[in-house]
Amino acid sequence: MSADRFRVFVARAIFPEVLDKLGRHFEVQSNQADRLMTPEEMRACLQGASGVFTTGSERVDAPLLAACPSLRICANMAVGYNNFDLPAMTAAGVLGTNAPDVLTETTADFGFALMLAAARRISESERFLRAGLWERWRYDLFAGADVHGKTMGILGMGRIGRALARRGARGFGMRVVYHNRNRLNPDLEEESAAQYLPLDGLLREADHLLVVLPYSESTHHRIGAAELRCMKPTATLVNIGRGGVVDDSALVQALRSGQIAAAGLDVFEGEPRLNPGLLDLPNVVLTPHIASASQPTRLAMAHLAADNLIGYLTLGKPLTPLNPEVLVVR
Ligand code: GLV
Repeated sequence: MSADRFRVFVARAIFPEVLDKLGRHFEVQSNQADRLMTPEEMRACLQGASGVFTTGSERVDAPLLAACPSLRICANMAVGYNNFDLPAMTAAGVLGTNAPDVLTETTADFGFALMLAAARRISESERFLRAGLWERWRYDLFAGADVHGKTMGILGMGRIGRALARRGARGFGMRVVYHNRNRLNPDLEEESAAQYLPLDGLLREADHLLVVLPYSESTHHRIGAAELRCMKPTATLVNIGRGGVVDDSALVQALRSGQIAAAGLDVFEGEPRLNPGLLDLPNVVLTPHIASASQPTRLAMAHLAADNLIGYLTLGKPLTPLNPEVLVVR
């Protein structure tokens, strides 16, 4: 079959130039109006489609795959892919791709920004100022925690974790400790200037804990009430990994009771809905899943997802396959 006869569905609004690029290779149908689609509508849009451009929000699972037998590739415009049931995709011979690397530095920048904002009480103090409550200087007005020279704990030492470590160690003179399923090899540890600790040691020693884990059954509530109890009362917790890795209800309790000092959250359990307790707390900085959202990085992520569709459907060569065993089978 010639490549120009493949049909591709773009499930969410994306940059027009990326849509144009896909249009040069495929017959493209897109949800440029960015309507929220039910699974049934998604299935209907995928009839006859060989590829789908997804973001982290669209679920690809066994029922969808069974209903869309023409599908060959799902290209996620996200590094995380917990919206994919990858074993089901592999069983159906459908390739999954994600968008790693291009967002690493931008996402690490944002993690750092959330850590600084939470530790130095930036959102809280701005709300106070905007509310017209600032009457005079005071010695302890919004006095928070220091970041420079403190201990940064990183839970999840992939590419983004290591980029955070470099910033902490080299930019802010921090001691960096980390925990990961697998310890890094000595070269990577040295490059990251980071020391491995077991999880309980990490929790006890971190002044600022940055959670960068992907979500899976095995990382569900990795940080819960028991883990929060191990942390310092002066500590901040930042989650830029995935909602559900931190137990948000337990976090609300810990922030409310002063078990930890502050938090910065970009991802939430059940997002875009939030645990209502979070909204009432002054000592938490909340952002709507935008850690990778610089203009150039979001554009690069969209191009990478599009290039995966083009590479696979036209040449059989995706750039960032998640289940390459599918390539062997085909
Ligand atoms: C964003 O959360 C991503 O996984 O890219």
